[in-house]
Amino acid sequence: MDYQLILNEIAEEIMSLQDKGKVANYIPALENVNPEQFGMSLTLFDGTQYNVGDFNTLFSIQSISKVFTFTLALKFYSTGLYKRIGREPSGNPFNSLVQLEYEHGVPRNPFINAGAINVTDTLMSYYGDSTTASKEIMQFIQDIAGEPSLTHNEIVSTSEMDHGFRNMALANLMKSFNNLDNDVHDVVQTYFRHCAIEMNTKMLSRAMLFLSNHGIDPISGVEYLSEQQAKRVNAVMLTCGHYDASGDFAFHVGLPGKSGVGGGIVAVVPKKMGICVWSPGLNAQGNSLAGTLALELFTSKTGMSIF
Ligand code: DON
Repeated sequence: MDYQLILNEIAEEIMSLQDKGKVANYIPALENVNPEQFGMSLTLFDGTQYNVGDFNTLFSIQSISKVFTFTLALKFYSTGLYKRIGREPSGNPFNSLVQLEYEHGVPRNPFINAGAINVTDTLMSYYGDSTTASKEIMQFIQDIAGEPSLTHNEIVSTSEMDHGFRNMALANLMKSFNNLDNDVHDVVQTYFRHCAIEMNTKMLSRAMLFLSNHGIDPISGVEYLSEQQAKRVNAVMLTCGHYDASGDFAFHVGLPGKSGVGGGIVAVVPKKMGICVWSPGLNAQGNSLAGTLALELFTSKTGMSIF
């Protein structure tokens, strides 16, 4: 299959959509990103990459980081994790408070904000403190991406901390139900730090390979998760990776995927490749508008959905 030709066609076809979405503005530091950007990358098991557009431009990975933190927490806590976090789609926006109150402070899944904050809390408990947890999470993502030079953008994480009232509310609510072990402020700050890590589509498509290959990175041979755990992460990506648009994403794209409000989306083609697309304009559910369409075009052109 001529992947480069397919990527070029997709870039051409989504061109008119690049200015249709809205850049996330509830995090002021993200508001100034030029929405008219688009990049897409595929990484195959032998490391071959195909790219189009702004694939070298670094962007804020935001909620895509939740895939990596969930992976780490699953490694350390295995099924014990499900005592404090569920694995059902929420059908609600990513930052919703209502369901969390009804369900006694147990977040529906590890990808909505409450669930990811809870996952970060477990990692802080595992590593002992916020600084070590942030360092180890960063190291883990660097290993998985094969990119030792990754950093997080302090301006973005500070901006989020200054405006993160809703996430603080989610964390406080979980604390009130005894479902958060560490200091609320420290947990939320650690969470914002990993959301503010910057990567490009090349790096992220490569970082998805272990999930396409039953938990084992096909390039380095490192086993990050057991086969069963990798199945779980992919399942939760498919059912919860796009919040209240997860059904829609499965319907149109048909791949396990995870979005972030920075405009990135990662997707996994089992046994074949990792994909990442980026375009900062978002749809009403906070997922990249052009990015979602690009992935739909990809599975339509290649027949590579899992269905
Ligand atoms: O906590 C937040 O709201 C952001 N740091 C991450 C949210 C996000 O990326 C939702 N994704 N589409």
